[in-house]
Amino acid sequence: MSRILITSALPYINGIKHLGTLAGSMLPADVYARFQRSRGRETLYICATDEHGTPTELAAAEAGVDPAAFCAAQHEVQAELGAKFGLSWDHFGRSSSQQNHRLTQRFAQTLWEAGFIEEKVTQQVYSNADKRFLPDRYVIGTCPHCAYPAARGDQCENCPRVLDPADLIAPRSAVSGSEDIEIRPSKHLFLRQSLFSDKLRTWIDGKKGDWPLLVTSIALKWLDEGLQDRGITRDLEWGVPVNAAEWGPNPDGATPDVEGLAGKVFYVWFDAPIEYIGATWEWADAKAAAEGRGQADEAEWERWWREPLAADVTYVEFMGKDNVPFHTVGFPCTLIGANEQRGPDGAWGAVNNAPWKLVDRLKGFNWLDYYGGKFSTSQKRGVFMDQALELLPADYWRWWVVANAPEGSDATFTWEQFQTQVNADLADVLGNFVNRILKFTETRFEGVVPDGGAPGELEIKLASDVSAKLAELTELMEAMEMRKSAQALRQLWVLGNQYLTEAAPWTAIKTDRDRAAVAVRTGLNLVALFAKVSEPFIPFAAEKIAGGVGEAFPGRWPQGEGATLLNALQPGTKVAAPDVLFRKIEDVQVEEWRERFGGEVEPA
Ligand code: 2FM
Ligand code: ZN
Repeated sequence: MSRILITSALPYINGIKHLGTLAGSMLPADVYARFQRSRGRETLYICATDEHGTPTELAAAEAGVDPAAFCAAQHEVQAELGAKFGLSWDHFGRSSSQQNHRLTQRFAQTLWEAGFIEEKVTQQVYSNADKRFLPDRYVIGTCPHCAYPAARGDQCENCPRVLDPADLIAPRSAVSGSEDIEIRPSKHLFLRQSLFSDKLRTWIDGKKGDWPLLVTSIALKWLDEGLQDRGITRDLEWGVPVNAAEWGPNPDGATPDVEGLAGKVFYVWFDAPIEYIGATWEWADAKAAAEGRGQADEAEWERWWREPLAADVTYVEFMGKDNVPFHTVGFPCTLIGANEQRGPDGAWGAVNNAPWKLVDRLKGFNWLDYYGGKFSTSQKRGVFMDQALELLPADYWRWWVVANAPEGSDATFTWEQFQTQVNADLADVLGNFVNRILKFTETRFEGVVPDGGAPGELEIKLASDVSAKLAELTELMEAMEMRKSAQALRQLWVLGNQYLTEAAPWTAIKTDRDRAAVAVRTGLNLVALFAKVSEPFIPFAAEKIAGGVGEAFPGRWPQGEGATLLNALQPGTKVAAPDVLFRKIEDVQVEEWRERFGGEVEPA
């Protein structure tokens, strides 16, 4: 049985995440991880905060603390919210960890020595007032094409042409507004992505039909447009320092310009994906420390990432569509380049016999919108994780977000649709079913699974329907089809309700206690089954449901025929109705929340 390595795109450190970020990476990854664990597969779900880059430096300065202190505090906030949302990370790391520093520097050195990194002198904007280099988007000025006065140095939002900061009329710093800026030459490192085009195309072509069309089309579009070599260093203080002094010569015998590269750090998009590996190392070290073993052996994390140790690992990545190019082009170049060397004759050759693992299955998502407009961290538009939990328990959000995952196209959150769906699925269908059967068992069967009677036609049909729906659900979960899986799960719950209505133990009990006992026993077995299959989606409620019928939590994903599954509980087992599982969302709450969070479509 293969092991499953799961990563979800790393959330930026600055700011609490909104439902859109959850929908496109962390939550579906969690659902899949929980499913695979319940199938008995050895599963490792890794995530981390993405901590480097200019926005972090600026956010820290605004908060009046240094970036390290800012990131440490924000990491705690995000870790805590993740836990409250039931995100079952095996490790939630930090891209600023020592492990990631070491790996990032090691990758860069290997890539340099293999000839895949080169140096270039670039012209960068320097702000004398801010005493820092400014990335293009932090330079603003008047657009030379449309005269928009607040065009950004990378792109004009108005016309919307791609720009260079040098194109802007009256350029100024977006940080301080100062016009005291100048262009300075600065030495930087570039990853020679163009050398990898053919390899990447062959690899991605081989994923067609397996990865979502969204993903392969984005990746191939990038390749079709021609891969550009990519700058992988920046003039910043906060980040992984470029350790050029430690590097040997490249295949042409050149050594890096140690002086010219002094004081530079790696670009956030270079070190962030490496943190998937870094966080796995952090996880191994944390485990070793917890077991009193000091630090982990490298093999403990390498068994997830390096061949041949990782030969039985299926690596699955979850992300929003904007992240796809970095995961289908940028990160694979880093990993492939660290395995191979291009000799003077231009031929590829392996330089180590422990290549790094590339992604096997990449699940990309479209956007989840808020009333047809964008969720926005900077504009605080939409619902954020902390606010969501103030209003309702995590399972309400988890259910709605997964059931409406933006898979085939973008999806939109509205309070009205949220209310309708949560009330119908969770309160009316699942909650009502569990409550009805458990309450009835308490009042008429002394709160234990009853003995007696034999399954009749209704139960035989139910068993066959349950078998079919469960097989469908299992297949959809393996395929990571989130919306369809949620739909199949809901249909399973509906089968339970329909059965109970038809079997009507409350009527049968008046004339035929054995018949009522069969119906109640079958219903209670359905409750146990629902706890198991609902756990990946709504783990908090699933735990209460499992407890109601005396089952261990989390349970194993059900396997086998419906008839067996519906006779699994031992007669005599004590059962009890849990507290209300789901309260209906009232109209007044929807009104209040729409008022508080806004419910207007963003003007076009
Ligand atoms: O887009 C984002 O939110 C990035 N922080 C994702 C990084 S994913 C990985 F490569 F680290
Ligand atoms: Zn313009």
